[in-house]
Amino acid sequence: MNDLVQEIRSIKEELGDNIVIPAHHYQRDEIVALADFLGDSYKLAVDCSKTDAQYILFCGVHFMAEGAAVVAGKHQLVVTPDPGAGCPMADMIDNNEAEKAYAAMSSLCPREIIPVIYMNSSASMKAFCGARNGAVCTSSNAVKIVRHYLDAGKSVFFSPDYNLGVNVANELGLTRDELVLINRDGTVQPGGSEDARLYIWDGYCHVHKSFSVDDILALRRQYSDIQIIVHPECTEQVVAEADFAGSTSMIYNRVKNAPAGTVWGIGTEHNFVSRIASECSDKTVVALKKSLCTDMNVTNLDSLATTIRAVGKHFRGEGELHNQVTVPESHRRDAKKAMERMIAIVE
Ligand code: 13P
Ligand code: SF4
Repeated sequence: MNDLVQEIRSIKEELGDNIVIPAHHYQRDEIVALADFLGDSYKLAVDCSKTDAQYILFCGVHFMAEGAAVVAGKHQLVVTPDPGAGCPMADMIDNNEAEKAYAAMSSLCPREIIPVIYMNSSASMKAFCGARNGAVCTSSNAVKIVRHYLDAGKSVFFSPDYNLGVNVANELGLTRDELVLINRDGTVQPGGSEDARLYIWDGYCHVHKSFSVDDILALRRQYSDIQIIVHPECTEQVVAEADFAGSTSMIYNRVKNAPAGTVWGIGTEHNFVSRIASECSDKTVVALKKSLCTDMNVTNLDSLATTIRAVGKHFRGEGELHNQVTVPESHRRDAKKAMERMIAIVE
């Protein structure tokens, strides 16, 4: 066994129930192999809200570790191997821009506007949402959360992912007149009816935006019986051309549980697609194209070992934690409300 793997395992064993390692599906294989929980961003948030471990060593990107710090108890300590691992989409909106947009929308819309903020956002944006009766959503439950507020007669401010927002709108049968685009400077684009139901921020994920309808058509020419499954951060055209769209856990479970001999084309992060392919040797699994999330890829055995070493020292009272992720109490309280509303609507 690799020396670092051995060291990480032995510190984990020493800490026992005092530590958990959650990892997102997009993490490298060697990190996934050491994780206690593996999942999509919704599952990981729920797992982190349920664990009692003193240390949560989160392997993912920063907004996910922050999410864990929001839902965890105040006595729990969240650390992450690389705090520089961000999500460019999560950075496409800040509170000033959101407040400006919210004021502009509210002056145009006769209904109350409820923010539904994608998990891929900062804790301060989650707090913005929680303070205005809104809920966080993830790719696995965005349709359900938005429908919840529309059914209650509200309009929804959806941010930051435009593609997910439009895919949700299509799923809910909203017309183009019921959608309004919000520019990334917080200004409202002209157009849309007075009674718009969904105001969508103009953010995107570069990893998923890179997939095209042509990528799908090329695979369909190559494999006549291929089934295409994509993440809903892909464009609406790609989602329309695919056979299925869903969260990373949905993709994983559907392909893993498919009959042997089936053929799958997957449109999501490349490390993840490669792992599914190697775990599903009884099927043919190919990527729509190689699209890597470099932020997810940055966590490796070296950074995990450095972080868990510091956790071990802290546990023994011999040193400081490295890379602790904290959320100021002023944000945590409202962000937690928004996360808890999501869980209450889903469960
Ligand atoms: P999931 O919620 O499906 O895990 O997606 C998170 C993500 O960052 C996709 O790019
Ligand atoms: Fe962010 Fe896209 Fe990476 Fe997901 S794949 S973490 S949305 S940059």
